[in-house]
Amino acid sequence: MANWSDYQLGIYYNGVQGVQPDLPVSYAELERRAHAALPAAVLGYVAGGAGDENTQRRNVEAFQRWGLMPRMMVGAAERDLSVELFDLQLPSPLYLCPVGVLGVCHPEGDLETARASAATGVPMLASTLSASPLEEVAKATGATPAFFQLYPPNDRELTENLVHRAEVAGYAGIVITVDTWVNGWRPRDLGNAYLPMLRGHCLANYRSDPRFAQIVGQIPESQPHREELAWASIFGKPTLSWDDLPWFRSLTNLPLLLKGICSPLDVTRAKDGGVDGIVCSNHGGRQANGGLPALNCLAGVVAAADGMPVLFDSGVRGGPDIVKALALGATAVGVGRPYVYGLSLAGARGVEHVLRSLLAEADLTMAIDGYRSIADLTPEALVPC
Ligand code: FNR
Repeated sequence: MANWSDYQLGIYYNGVQGVQPDLPVSYAELERRAHAALPAAVLGYVAGGAGDENTQRRNVEAFQRWGLMPRMMVGAAERDLSVELFDLQLPSPLYLCPVGVLGVCHPEGDLETARASAATGVPMLASTLSASPLEEVAKATGATPAFFQLYPPNDRELTENLVHRAEVAGYAGIVITVDTWVNGWRPRDLGNAYLPMLRGHCLANYRSDPRFAQIVGQIPESQPHREELAWASIFGKPTLSWDDLPWFRSLTNLPLLLKGICSPLDVTRAKDGGVDGIVCSNHGGRQANGGLPALNCLAGVVAAADGMPVLFDSGVRGGPDIVKALALGATAVGVGRPYVYGLSLAGARGVEHVLRSLLAEADLTMAIDGYRSIADLTPEALVPC
């Protein structure tokens, strides 16, 4: 059983040896340092969201409206943060959200993130939009299971290829993101006129696919930026509907999850369609600026899922957030922007630092508040405040 809070002791012991930490543990400082380090357009893409970014802010604030009830004298000297997800035994409930621009935040962004996953046992949901092909990313995750996140293209053969490649590469499941068949209105990116993929970044999974080569081949050779144009023509599937679900289901026997679900009604449809898990998320407030924090949807999604695993992301910034999402019924909890900032500052070491800090803080929160295992984290552990 991993003892996640040892990370805290390690930092103090290093201090005794005269070694001061070079990476911050506070999210505010991590964000400040990464913001200073990233090029302006990349920073806008990572830090920005839809509209006036109200949803994005509210995702974070939603955690502050819940307090954890401390329980004393329960002997929580050892905690068990391990979880079971499908047939996997994971050492912690944390996972790395799919992020499509790791390759512009660090020269080997996807591989460095995969290496941090290998080092920590925290699974990576590897994005379709990657600077390294999904096969190389899977290899770099080592013994830690990984999931492949699919942006379903508007081309059936390419979709099939990506799913089958993920199966062959050994991914443990397919996560179809259903909230991004078109990009949200993102003022920071519009201000910079910056969409990384239109500049040829993070298209490795397409470039390594024979079907994509055929699609590029249909564009006259005289046309500049043929790959980028081909990508823009097939990236999203505007007609994506529940009618497509049986076909997606027929593509693989791997666990199939839908990411970007907030409504219990959608959970029911997904479950009826043979989906194995839900990712309750509003894409970190990057898609629609409707103002509803993802956390506020979690309990309803969990109830409708009725035992089916529910992963949660959007707004997780510290260890207590992980604990709160678990208490609301999440099976596993995703970190997004914070690890991208760690990656930007120090590659795999930066990602690992963020993951270990989050887990140490979650573990210590449970220790101090008297929750020995995730099973102890029920909704009664939370108080609205
Ligand atoms: C994302 N997200 C995302 N989601 C997805 O399914 N595929 C992807 O390629 C991406 N790309 C991406 C890029 C960037 C820069 C960000 C910040 C996010 C959404 C991601 O998986 C997750 O839902 C959010 O990051 C959660 O919000 P917070 O906690 O990062 O605010």
